Amino acid sequence: MLRFLRRFDPRSVNDRDGPRSSTQPSADAANQGSEQTGNREPANAHLPSDQVTDALESLRPLDYLLEPNIAQLQSVFDNADDKIACLRRFALFFVVRPEKLKLINTPYYHHHHAGNVVFDLILAAGEYGAGHLDLAESLIASHIEDFDDPFLGMLLARIQGAKGDFPGEAETVQKLRTRFPDDVMVTLFQLNVDLRDGNIAKANQNLDSVRPFVEELLKTESLEVQSSAADLADAIKNRRLSRSESFDIYDDALTRQTWAGYFEHFITQGRHQSGDGHLIDELDVQLTDFIGKHGIGTVLDFGSLCAEIIARPADKLRDTRFVGIDRQEFVATLNQEAYALPNMSFESGDIFDFLPQMKELPGPRLLFHVRTTCFLYPELVERIYAAAAQAGVDYIMGWEGDGLSRHHLRYFSFDDMPDISIARKGVLFNHNYRRILERAGYEITHQQNVTTLALCPDEKDLLGAALFFTARRRQAS
Ligand SMILES: C[S@@+](CC[C@H](N)C(=O)[O-])C[C@H]1O[C@@H](n2cnc3c(N)ncnc32)[C@H](O)[C@@H]1O
Repeated sequence: MLRFLRRFDPRSVNDRDGPRSSTQPSADAANQGSEQTGNREPANAHLPSDQVTDALESLRPLDYLLEPNIAQLQSVFDNADDKIACLRRFALFFVVRPEKLKLINTPYYHHHHAGNVVFDLILAAGEYGAGHLDLAESLIASHIEDFDDPFLGMLLARIQGAKGDFPGEAETVQKLRTRFPDDVMVTLFQLNVDLRDGNIAKANQNLDSVRPFVEELLKTESLEVQSSAADLADAIKNRRLSRSESFDIYDDALTRQTWAGYFEHFITQGRHQSGDGHLIDELDVQLTDFIGKHGIGTVLDFGSLCAEIIARPADKLRDTRFVGIDRQEFVATLNQEAYALPNMSFESGDIFDFLPQMKELPGPRLLFHVRTTCFLYPELVERIYAAAAQAGVDYIMGWEGDGLSRHHLRYFSFDDMPDISIARKGVLFNHNYRRILERAGYEITHQQNVTTLALCPDEKDLLGAALFFTARRRQAS
């Protein structure tokens, strides 16, 4: 049995507080919309401060990953004070670089290293990243019994969940709970499954069982969100539309940086490699299906930023017109240059100025928004939906962050939300979309919580979720 000396807890609260890695797309606040980013390399991944970093850095420029590299990784693992943190770093590195592993995922190396936990873990991470989930599962499954930490069991449960094998996932999590009853990460993993399944009462029970840990973890964020919560309360009371200046974070520099970061992630990563990869793959499926099913003539993407999200369906569905709108002119220019499809166009300015033109565009019409309304006051969201109804928009589809409110430290369903909107974290809000849509004349036809597919989620990833919904205008068919 492998027993690991853990000199510090890799999942300690302070582990999260460093600066972000330069591979992160943008400032923290801009990245909070989906709250299921996952699979991030840790914040200090590029600082040459430890052996794991040095070993991984040395692999970066290599064209080949061969025997000396395996030996190097093995030796780093053997000497690591915290072996779980070390494995986690290896997995995070390789999940976004499956191509490196092709060279060792060959009979010669299997012959020499199969059964070795480091070898199998890095292969499994690469296979997971590449979407070969059965292979990833079999590589991890063989180590579970001998491994005296829930880390690999959670990897197995994650792979099973990502495959859609929910009974297998439930069995693995149950075994972990029996074997490691006091492990906070196992409880958070279960909580994350509860969120995905829409079981809010159970998610809150699990949250309560680790509440002191979560309160400590979110202490700073809970303090920081107070001012946004007070501002939101005032905005609701006074039906304010424009965000108070200090909470309007999207200046030109951040917007440009975020466009470039999303572009890179959308182009290079898939659903098992990062939150952005998950989002782009899933929305391609959902949007394409929806457009086909309802014969959508025009899609208006409110707050497009990097328009890769609509470009994927647009490339396949040339009879549907896709319009992206953002406030900044340079975003429209960036998108025009990146996405020159004849059925795509980009506008800049205020959505209220454009919405009336939707009437002239072919129907049925869909208003689509991703990680945009979570920045807006509820009164403004309601007015946008009402203007959409006026402009003959038949359907609305949204994907917006909906994780744990740092203000309330409790999960809510639409039935028991304490107000029309609540402050989540930073400058972001969770809205009661059902009520807002109803007030504007729409009804929800589908809703689901989307949770992280990260192979090695951290605590905050596990507390998060995005809400995906579709709605239709009441008189629409
Ligand atoms: C967070 S970004 C959207 C990100 C993008 N949908 C994604 O998920 O990758 C929000 C965008 O909404 C746009 N936006 C906000 N308010 C707007 C308004 N009133 N009219 C037009 N665009 C607006 C901003 O210009 C910004 O580009």
